[in-house]
Amino acid sequence: MAQLWGGRFTKATDKMVYDFNASINFDKKLFSQDIRGSKAHVKMLASVGVITEAERDEILKGLEGIEEDVNKGDLEITSEYEDIHSFVEANLIDRIGDAGKKLHTGRSRNDQVALDMRLYTRDAVEDTSKALVHLLSTIAGIMEEHIDTIMPGFTHLQKAQPITLAHHFGAYFEMFKRDVLRLKDIRERMNYCPLGSGALAGTTYPLDRNMTAELLGFYGPTANSMDGVSDRDYLIEFLSALCTIQMHLSRFSEEIIIWNSNEYRFVEIDDAYSTGSSIMPQKKNPDIAELVRGKTGRVYGALMSLLTTMKGIPLAYNKDMQEDKELAFDAMKTVQDCIVLFDGMLETLSFNKDVMANSAKNGFTNATDAADYLVNHGVPFRDAHGIIGQVVLYCIEKNIAIDDMSLDELKAISPAFEEDIYEAISMETCVNKRLTIGAPGHDAMVNEIKGCRDFLASMN
Ligand code: ARG
Repeated sequence: MAQLWGGRFTKATDKMVYDFNASINFDKKLFSQDIRGSKAHVKMLASVGVITEAERDEILKGLEGIEEDVNKGDLEITSEYEDIHSFVEANLIDRIGDAGKKLHTGRSRNDQVALDMRLYTRDAVEDTSKALVHLLSTIAGIMEEHIDTIMPGFTHLQKAQPITLAHHFGAYFEMFKRDVLRLKDIRERMNYCPLGSGALAGTTYPLDRNMTAELLGFYGPTANSMDGVSDRDYLIEFLSALCTIQMHLSRFSEEIIIWNSNEYRFVEIDDAYSTGSSIMPQKKNPDIAELVRGKTGRVYGALMSLLTTMKGIPLAYNKDMQEDKELAFDAMKTVQDCIVLFDGMLETLSFNKDVMANSAKNGFTNATDAADYLVNHGVPFRDAHGIIGQVVLYCIEKNIAIDDMSLDELKAISPAFEEDIYEAISMETCVNKRLTIGAPGHDAMVNEIKGCRDFLASMN
């Protein structure tokens, strides 16, 4: 048990209490952030004259040595230490002696951990954003390739109107684009440095908080030291953004699972992204999509957990806040992995264009257009709606599509039908006449895809 305190205690900590209180098993993830923060802190301490330049150099060398040894695997971060901060400081003192004891001057573990977590989260925000931008470029590529691939669009999971695969994927492009922009906002708002907040009330040393903020790539120091040590809003915002990303991935996964089913056969998931059954030799299961959908629960759980942890904490730091880490780390890794795997699954997905086109044609997705055709031939819309209803009923009985009816059959239901009906209700016409902004028509999609490409270019 190596801890940084104990002077005012007359008894050793109970073993179970020690273990319950310790955080090393999970905050060891903050090792490189802790070292980074300490380096900035000692540079600043020397620049304001709190330690000498020689002490600074000794401490920096010691910290670098620890970093190197841990990275090489020569030094293990063990649960013998209470937390990552104690591990670094104790090892520093072991290595360089008295100078090491000066590292913590003007600092508390409260502002130290606030900094470490913020640095870690900032990196995770950037990594998530990069993975999303890659996913967006995969989606844009599929949109370009499938601008004329006709498929049914659904409402209530019932075939509704014909769209294209590009149009369907374009909807997800917009969702993930908003996710990227959300991350950008979060990064802007969180990019202030809590180091120098001390335990809660700043410090009497003449710390230069602007200097440490700058050394660590922040816009500046946080404005209030009580807030600096106890703010976890940025993490809540990030977890909330991760929940939204995961919700989008989960919806998309659900669609891929449905499309990949034996009944739909719109897509086929690549062997590399499928798994088999131990008993049923014919099975090829969409486990990756199912797991992405399933992991949504734990990501939502992390957000709920932190919101609940924070809701009753009086200012400033309280140990409850140590609970901000495990589930947040898990959520960050989970979402990152899900984005990358989902992206790979999409990149290798094959599309059964004929099945999709047939499904659109045989699902009465052109019924609205058939009604519009009658309207253009002088029939009031409400009457046209009723006539096409009868046409659909007739087709269901005969198990055919509207396009398969002869002109005589159509005329028997309404004399307003003419030879040009077939052209008017072909899938191509139905899609390509839809040219309002954001609609699936070819020319509208060309514009939409251009917007997607412009966005991607702006992200590089
Ligand atoms: N392990 C603690 C955490 O994660 C570090 C800060 C401890 N500060 C304290 N005063 N006990 O929040």
